Amino acid sequence: MSLARRPLLALAGAALAGPTWAQGPGLRQLARARGMSFGTAVRGQVLQDDPALAALVAREADLLVPEWEGKWDSLQPERGRFNFEPLRQIIRFAQAHNQRVRGHALLWHVAMPPWLAPALREGASQANAILEEHITTVLRETRETIRDWDVLNEIISNPPGSDNPDPTDGDLRPTPWLAALGPGYAERALRLARQVDPTLRLTLNDYGVEADTPWAAAKRARLLRVVRGLIDRRCPLDAIGIQAHLQMREPFRAEPFIAFLRELRGLGLAILITELDVREPDQLAPSLAERDAAVAEYAGAFLDAAIAGGVRTILTWGLTDRDSWLVQEPGVARRDGQLHRGLPFDAELRPKPFRARLARIFAG
Ligand code: G3I
Repeated sequence: MSLARRPLLALAGAALAGPTWAQGPGLRQLARARGMSFGTAVRGQVLQDDPALAALVAREADLLVPEWEGKWDSLQPERGRFNFEPLRQIIRFAQAHNQRVRGHALLWHVAMPPWLAPALREGASQANAILEEHITTVLRETRETIRDWDVLNEIISNPPGSDNPDPTDGDLRPTPWLAALGPGYAERALRLARQVDPTLRLTLNDYGVEADTPWAAAKRARLLRVVRGLIDRRCPLDAIGIQAHLQMREPFRAEPFIAFLRELRGLGLAILITELDVREPDQLAPSLAERDAAVAEYAGAFLDAAIAGGVRTILTWGLTDRDSWLVQEPGVARRDGQLHRGLPFDAELRPKPFRARLARIFAG
């Protein structure tokens, strides 16, 4: 059976298995009715190759974020040669389904095309010119279709004690951008974006600020210091994206997280949950049903706190376990051969308790 047909049958099967989810409102309607927005990351190729997934994305999401197609390695594979077609494909899909698209990511130290890091090492003036050309070209291309970009992605340094500690007490992650342009690069990128497109929402997106651990508390403190510094210098910044790649092996407690969100809101910033998914603990529950219930419970407790802290936009990093980076990326895949079940739908596009929990949260 062709790959494309299997999910269609699965989706039909899930619908026939009744009960209500396939006939009921999509998450997008439920979220909208509560004045919120639900979305997901998508890959253009998968949307094109898998009609069942495309149908699921169309019914569940009113906001899309390109998982790959808005990054440097997709947009500017060679210096000065821009390739917007993969991104335009996602934008066309969104337009056809009355969905918005958010941009990800104008400045990041990963997904850099091979030419970029060496070029940045050739001096600050060239590095500035490269940054300026990329931001200007990309924002001009997407001015009519993308009104919110992750201008800065993962610029906060990781405290000691993590699996990828940054050898610095500084608050900014040591990246090729910091090395080339110095600590003012973040402000420079934000000011440039505002200058190119004065009404674009400028977002700083980062991870590891969710859990109730000393490490996450330290990363929250670093992010707050960087953001306060930008705002004290009257640097344009409109929103903070909290990636929320949750890890169930870490405790979560609402109070410190809500306090963090309230500090950010107090600085006049909107807050989005931009990449929600859940990594299961090392010791799995014995059955899939128990595993899925535990994932839904952990994600639900986090989302209740996020909404209490003022979040109104929630995106998952994909809808189905089948395409999740948690399953595909060796660095985060499980070592016991089991596959993470950290998204609202399983690999056969059947809804899991995570989806039901999202529906309940949006239904209030
Ligand atoms: O671009 C090629 C494509 O041409 C080819 O067909 C495909 C075949 O595998 O590979 C594509 O490259 C992929 C690349 O993303 C595109 O940027 C790599 O295989 C893939 O491993 C790589 O990983 C992505 C990663 O970001 C780096 O871009 C993950 O799929 C994506 O989930 C991950 O997402 C990040 C967020 O952007 C930032 N927050 C963390 C999150 C997880 O790492």
